[in-house]
Amino acid sequence: MSDSRYDSSSWNDGARGWVENEAIFDATYAPVTEAVVGAARFGPDMRVLDVGCGSGTLLQAAAKAGAAVVGVDIASDMVEAARRRVPGATVLLGDAQRLDFGAEASGAPFDVVVSRFGVMFFDDPAAAFANIRDFTAPDARMVFACWRGIEENPVFGGAGTGVITARLTDRPAPPAPGQPGPVAYADRDYLAGLLKEAGWSAVSIKPFDALFDHGIDGSDGVEERLATILATTTGRLARQQLAGVLSESEWNELLDAAREDIRRYIDDGSVKIPGAMWLVTATNRH
Ligand SMILES: C[S@@+](CC[C@H](N)C(=O)[O-])C[C@H]1O[C@@H](n2cnc3c(N)ncnc32)[C@H](O)[C@@H]1O
Repeated sequence: MSDSRYDSSSWNDGARGWVENEAIFDATYAPVTEAVVGAARFGPDMRVLDVGCGSGTLLQAAAKAGAAVVGVDIASDMVEAARRRVPGATVLLGDAQRLDFGAEASGAPFDVVVSRFGVMFFDDPAAAFANIRDFTAPDARMVFACWRGIEENPVFGGAGTGVITARLTDRPAPPAPGQPGPVAYADRDYLAGLLKEAGWSAVSIKPFDALFDHGIDGSDGVEERLATILATTTGRLARQQLAGVLSESEWNELLDAAREDIRRYIDDGSVKIPGAMWLVTATNRH
């Protein structure tokens, strides 16, 4: 069943906040980028597809290595940001689950498919991964990072977020494994099964842990963490539900309470939030 929090219109609503905070996301998720780029082994003459490319972090890394790069994203603000950031890339606006990459991009068939947190939002993930595989070359590789369980990832319910969601009048159900959303693939066996169903071989799903350091240029990272909360789903819901309900000073008190909660994650001078992910690799064996 589709979760409307993660459909194209919600991504379109949320993309601006993501793009405005691109520097923070890139700094905090640098270990994830490094892991995906390391496993992808980009090189010249490679044709690379980045699924759910957002504002183009991986596209930029692949282009820098001399690869021919194609990105796809369902949100137009993301697509525009990626085009600005990587002018040499072909960036498609569309749903990777059903897009005809052969017709839309001269880059197909691809040698490498990559994604950083962009493949967990499909209604029918097996169909989506099969569609993507259809446009890959024999022995092409896929490398992506996705989240493990919500209980292992305070980035969703903790570190300032819970303080704000507790005040919502209509609190959304937490994202659930097996449903479109950030923790869709928390269950490794479920993910392995659907990649196999989609025809991918040599599937490897390894735990990957990192600390998301929010300190940028010497900051303690508290404002950076708060900015990312306010820029994404929790912040959007808070503005929708609490504007006009809380006075300005009550809103500021709420933000101060969130800051206090975030400060609990300060370690060695900056906010460091643990992240629990899977690093996934698979091959298109014909
Ligand atoms: C969590 S963001 C990650 C963005 C980017 N990969 C990054 O790491 O900065 C997820 C991205 O996937 C995109 N997305 C979600 N569903 C999609 C779909 N069905 N097809 C293409 N892109 C999708 C969203 O618009 C969003 O840009």
